[in-house]
Amino acid sequence: MPKLSIRDVDLKGKRVFVRVDFNVPLDAAGNVTDDTRIRASLPTIEWALQRGARLILASHLGRPKGKSDPKMSLRPAAERLSKLLGQAVAFAPDSMGAEAQSAATALRDGQVLLLENLRFHVEEEKDDPEFSRKLASLAEVYVNDAFGTAHRAHASTEGITHYLTPAVAGLLMEKELQYLGQAVENPPRPYVAIVGGAKVSDKIGFLENLMRFADVVLIGGAMAYTFLKACGVEVGLSRFEPDKLDLARDLLSFSERRSIKLCLPQDHVVAEKLDPSAAAEVVREQAIPANRLGADIGPLTRSDYAAEIERARMIVWNGPMGVFEIAQFSEGTVAVAKAVAASSAISIVGGGDSVAAVRKAGVADKITHISTGGGASLEFLSGMQLPGVDALTEAK
Ligand code: 3PG
Repeated sequence: MPKLSIRDVDLKGKRVFVRVDFNVPLDAAGNVTDDTRIRASLPTIEWALQRGARLILASHLGRPKGKSDPKMSLRPAAERLSKLLGQAVAFAPDSMGAEAQSAATALRDGQVLLLENLRFHVEEEKDDPEFSRKLASLAEVYVNDAFGTAHRAHASTEGITHYLTPAVAGLLMEKELQYLGQAVENPPRPYVAIVGGAKVSDKIGFLENLMRFADVVLIGGAMAYTFLKACGVEVGLSRFEPDKLDLARDLLSFSERRSIKLCLPQDHVVAEKLDPSAAAEVVREQAIPANRLGADIGPLTRSDYAAEIERARMIVWNGPMGVFEIAQFSEGTVAVAKAVAASSAISIVGGGDSVAAVRKAGVADKITHISTGGGASLEFLSGMQLPGVDALTEAK
């Protein structure tokens, strides 16, 4: 169901509450070490400011569990935003109370206020109605631009919409829904999904939903060893999930019945241990020796996967192909990143590790859409409803 967008509402002179996702990493000195999410919210912020809105921005950072914690303050995010915008960003040291209220009331057209971390109040994650009502009382329009948090039914993503309407999508939210929506509704074909990471159990919903949409599924990372084990292939000391072997078998037989090409690694990079000091060895067959564990996809698998990627018209990638943080086990993931970047398909990358991998490979600018949502993009691609999206006002 299409949702109302920030483009549909008059913002001039209005106090506009924008839920952003400024859940950014900070170093020990409190500096923002990666401002991707702040930058990603700039189109919405600038759109609103250019139209004379009085902006009240709110976000969470980390998981402070309802307690105030200076290490998770959003103050550094206010400073970074101010630099990026080239204008002052006021900061309210609490998202509740008289100070937040008067800072919101003092805003003039085109001014910005950022509230302190919403999760310093336990009521935020509890989706508490009174907390939601108080947040709503700060503003006249509600915008949700926090796609990365849209899978959480929290006061600032869901509860607030019961007290403040219209509730509209910001430009980042719109863009995320548009690209990810294409992957689950009538994608251009061939649609190739690349699924990696440690565990099948983290991606069950995604894998199951792919059985409805994908033409080709390329499996990598430690989850591949669960699939190989399920096929009776020797995986040596590799990590696998004994309780997911039946699920892996079901997915394999389901994909066969649906004529979906589910590809498993044909060769491997193995080691004695997953450690930066360990030597990498190539095993040119599917079986892994009893005294070795798998750490990456091998050269033959890389070229097979690259050939599938080259034929694709739509690519979705979530999860690395190996232990890419360790240089000698990163080549498979980097090769896949380069193949995705070279493809003319619509490419969507989600999940912290795969996003880090495309950056490490230096090809981030060649990807059609890098999602700002890890958990949120995975839930969306698993066919789940996101409460933060559901709560937005429907476009007539
Ligand atoms: C994220 O980083 O995935 C979002 O900001 C949500 O954070 P959370 O998993 O702590 O709810």
